[in-house]
Amino acid sequence: MPAVTATAPGKIILFGEHAVVYGRPAIAVPVNQVRSRAVVNPEPAAETGRVTIQAPDIGLSATMDQLPQNHPIRFVVERVVSVSGASRLPACTIRVTSSIPFSSGMGSSAAVSVALIRAFSGFLGRPLSDELVSDLAFEVEKIQHGTPSGIDNTVITYAVPVFYQKGSQIERLKINSAITLVIADSGLTSSTAETVADVRRGWEGDAARYEELFDQIGDISRKARDIIISGNPGSLGSLMNQNQTLLKKIGVSSETLDSFVETAMASGALGAKLSGGGRGGNIIALVSEDSTTFVADALKKAGAERVFTTRILSN
Ligand code: PMV
Repeated sequence: MPAVTATAPGKIILFGEHAVVYGRPAIAVPVNQVRSRAVVNPEPAAETGRVTIQAPDIGLSATMDQLPQNHPIRFVVERVVSVSGASRLPACTIRVTSSIPFSSGMGSSAAVSVALIRAFSGFLGRPLSDELVSDLAFEVEKIQHGTPSGIDNTVITYAVPVFYQKGSQIERLKINSAITLVIADSGLTSSTAETVADVRRGWEGDAARYEELFDQIGDISRKARDIIISGNPGSLGSLMNQNQTLLKKIGVSSETLDSFVETAMASGALGAKLSGGGRGGNIIALVSEDSTTFVADALKKAGAERVFTTRILSN
């Protein structure tokens, strides 16, 4: 039985986070510079069924039965065994690593799940379809985040830009004219489960106001889709700014993220907004070729822990 490796990209949400949990559309794209990786190595000398997990990024080294039942890695392994119908679990070591910053709105948890599901099902000789991979990763997201929309597992499994709306068929977005983004990670971790729960509390307190804000965000995602399809991404900038204003209104920005957005705009970005759950994590800034370096440098000076540029273009 050979070793099996699988990787999965990070992601950013271009438009529509939070509103997507309430059925509005959102746009997400994979970020290939950062990835999660899972490697499954057979351990022929160990007793059958013995699975060792190593995840050095989080200081984890344990056998699977030492992990709590709902630990995401244990959950994935057990679900893959049951879904794939494997009757025997060969002894193995699973090593999980990731260059995607944790709890920063870049989909690290979904990427770890997708890489692990693919590597482990491949190791068992029963690779799963993309649809099943995404469904299983969604189950893990539910354990970790409560009420996820499903956008993270979808964009990361299919690794293509998506226009995503809960309950609708996934729409792959073809990006013919490159979108260049500077991503600035604040280095402040933030729990998506908590921001999503806070938004829910706000919605419970004033459903009419929040529904109106979500509608406006959904409209922005639709307009952005049309702009992307028409191949004129420069005009996405003002939509990003409008989306950021609405994210502030639903209470998921923060002083640091607001100041990064201001810094990006003051140094020549065409638009900027937080991306993902918010409060901490990262902001994304749409840039032209001329402004990329200015914006990236300004964000570094403003205190971003990590700044990188990504160019999104369909193959
Ligand atoms: O922070 P992330 O990368 O998990 O993104 C969360 C996006 C939300 O819309 C806030 C939640 C969701 O499940 O869609």
